[in-house]
Amino acid sequence: MRTIIEPFRIKSVEPIRMTTAAEREGHLREAGYNVFLLHSDDVLIDLLTDSGTAAMSAEQWAAVMRADEAYAGARSWFRFEAAVRDITGLPIVMPTHQGRAAERILFGAVCKPGDVVPNNTHFDTTRANVEAAGARAVDLVIPEGRDPQSRHPFKGNMNVDALRALLEREGAGRVPLVMLTLTNNSAGGQPVSMANVREVASVCRAHGIPLYLDACRFAENAWFIREREEGFADWTPLAIARELFRHADGATMSAKKDGMANIGGFLATRDERLAQRERDVLILTEGFPTYGGLAGRDLDAIATGLYEALDADYLRYRIRATGYLGEKLLAAGVPIVEPPGGHAIYLDAARFLPHIAPRELPGQSLVAELYRVAGVRGVEVGTVMFGGRDPATGLERPSPMELVRLAIPRRVYTQSHIDYVAEAVIEVFERRHALRGMRFTFEAPTLRHFTARFEPLP
Ligand code: F0G
Repeated sequence: MRTIIEPFRIKSVEPIRMTTAAEREGHLREAGYNVFLLHSDDVLIDLLTDSGTAAMSAEQWAAVMRADEAYAGARSWFRFEAAVRDITGLPIVMPTHQGRAAERILFGAVCKPGDVVPNNTHFDTTRANVEAAGARAVDLVIPEGRDPQSRHPFKGNMNVDALRALLEREGAGRVPLVMLTLTNNSAGGQPVSMANVREVASVCRAHGIPLYLDACRFAENAWFIREREEGFADWTPLAIARELFRHADGATMSAKKDGMANIGGFLATRDERLAQRERDVLILTEGFPTYGGLAGRDLDAIATGLYEALDADYLRYRIRATGYLGEKLLAAGVPIVEPPGGHAIYLDAARFLPHIAPRELPGQSLVAELYRVAGVRGVEVGTVMFGGRDPATGLERPSPMELVRLAIPRRVYTQSHIDYVAEAVIEVFERRHALRGMRFTFEAPTLRHFTARFEPLP
């Protein structure tokens, strides 16, 4: 088989400023070893997130120029609405400035205190918005989804028996909606199968509960279904996406992922009465319903980007790039979440640095070292992000998994960049015994990972 090449040429380039390990060591110290606090000019390969970091295409930039900035009823809005309706089949579309705004409006409208919202795995803003509405966020991913080494093809699937049991226990009246996150970001960017979507939808229907998709990476999920699920090999990604959404009553979307845009999102539904209430909040906090929190040019860039994300050549390259990095690391013995996910490789810091206890923040130590050695910025998805203090003892409660995410921006890096990342990780892996843990020198009471400061343990 030939190399799967990047299915694009580069027309506009953004220089990377080279730095030395000694310089980066200084930057790390100034940033309190928190890579969120670095200047991005000091980063060589930025794998902090795949969100809002995509390179837009010539067609998207052309759409930006063609856009209509009218306050109400802009041409850009009608293109946006038509694209979302065409792909999702959801008739009512509300534009938002990004995914979490859609979440806040949705959960604010449907949740009451004491409610329970099941998801395969809530993303952190999703969980925070459920909780802000007074409800409880429950993760019901299948057991394989919590095992970094299980090679289940659809590790993002929801445990349907656990969902049934939850509905029995809580009563349907306490569950305003069920959500499925495609792909399951927090548990490794793992896909959900069509069979699982159908089964969850049928349980929801039987209980009269709406099913929502957190559709951030719906196109990548569609590609995995095509590659891995029987019966879909000759479907187009668009047809698979339509079939996924056909089972849903609504969706939240961050267009910063598979919208191929740098900002934007939407909330979509089939429920006109609910939409009426949501629109009131939309106007209050985002903007008039034909622009939400977005400029006309953003709406147009997304309308074009949603289709580009579904292009088969693009998806083949996209999923291959991630798999390629994962396979290189596995071949060198580096522990990662297997199989490689869609948008990111997750290093398993617990197995990478078994000599560093979870309370000594192995993931943070690994993130800092990757930056110091090679200028590669990843992000800790472990105790720093999901742990917390026991209110009684003040002791750290470790997260069940200690991961480091290397998220791959869309259409930004080439194969040689990916090779460089693999070399850097392998270099750190070879001298992993020299790494030490870290401790907090500052932590905010909520979402502490963004602003925390650390120091290496002696
Ligand atoms: N849902 C999922 C599954 C996400 O991954 C994100 C964002 C959101 C919702 C919220 O969207 O950022 O537009 O408000 N994930 C980014 C990440 C931030 O790095 O994974 P947003």
